[in-house]
Amino acid sequence: KRLMPLLAGMVLLLSACGRADLSTLKPQGPVAEEQFGLMKLTITIMVIVVLVVFAIAGYVIIRYRRRPGDKSIPVQVEGNHKLEIIWTVIPIVLLIIIGIPTVNSVFGLAKDYTKDPNAVQINVTAHQYWWEFEYPKLGVKTAQELVIPEGTIISVEGKTADVLHSFWIPSLAGKMDTNPGGNVNTMYFKADHTGVFLGKCAELCGPSHSLMDFKVKVVDKASFDRWVAAMKAPVAPPQDQEVADVLNKQCLSCHAIGASGAAFPNLMGIGGHQTIAGILVNTDQAQYANEGTVEENLKKWIEDPQKVKPGTLMPKVDLTDKQIDGIAKYLAGLKLDY
Ligand code: CUA
Repeated sequence: KRLMPLLAGMVLLLSACGRADLSTLKPQGPVAEEQFGLMKLTITIMVIVVLVVFAIAGYVIIRYRRRPGDKSIPVQVEGNHKLEIIWTVIPIVLLIIIGIPTVNSVFGLAKDYTKDPNAVQINVTAHQYWWEFEYPKLGVKTAQELVIPEGTIISVEGKTADVLHSFWIPSLAGKMDTNPGGNVNTMYFKADHTGVFLGKCAELCGPSHSLMDFKVKVVDKASFDRWVAAMKAPVAPPQDQEVADVLNKQCLSCHAIGASGAAFPNLMGIGGHQTIAGILVNTDQAQYANEGTVEENLKKWIEDPQKVKPGTLMPKVDLTDKQIDGIAKYLAGLKLDY
């Protein structure tokens, strides 16, 4: 009976492994494939070691067990140079076999593509508990949803605005720590085909660490160019004057819509995002418990951010239901065509 929850948990874990949008076991690009190759090499060697050690241990336990009536003390051995050399050299050789390709990959994958004109450069800044994505060469800044072109090198520079986080897209690449103290880490990755992939924070960073998700939307190159243009196009303010006033006073004092530069998530195109706050899934993706329309999720978020994401800097703003409805409706309408 006690095994049941454990088994159920394992089945859940394994079913998550089968999802191509978040599994390291189903690589969706060359970097993830290389990392998966390293995992396979390491696991193969570890399995062989475990099998050999268990086989020897099992053999010794059975072959040299105490037999009934046998009271004699076995031969006492204190050291055997030949054996000791063997069991020191074998692990060293195995570690070298694992180490050389691993070190090669680690340095290879940290290659800095920022000078490459064909690479898309993205500056990732981690915040408690959201992700900021800046495209310095394109003059675009967005949050929580990384849009990238397929088959293109994405060159990432990662830093943090507060504590230690780790940038991780399981099916595309990972992980890269974002360190406090001005340290910038670099990595690159590439997505083989279009699709939506899940990104996560992989370093314990506070009470909402597990909710610090983001999405990666891989689109074809023409769509990516259209997205960049749409991100920079002007946006009409809300028609309702009260909503426009509240938006300016309460929302745009921290957020920006379109123009890059605000310290908090850019709301441009948020009506077309997969999630609100990275965690309230907008589409009717049934595997998540908190699905709803963009507008419903925006309302849920604005009404009580702390309830959705404990510890978030987004305050609960004193708004009437009508004002929340108006803002949610306006923001849900900020959809980009690309
Ligand atoms: Cu950020 Cu965990």
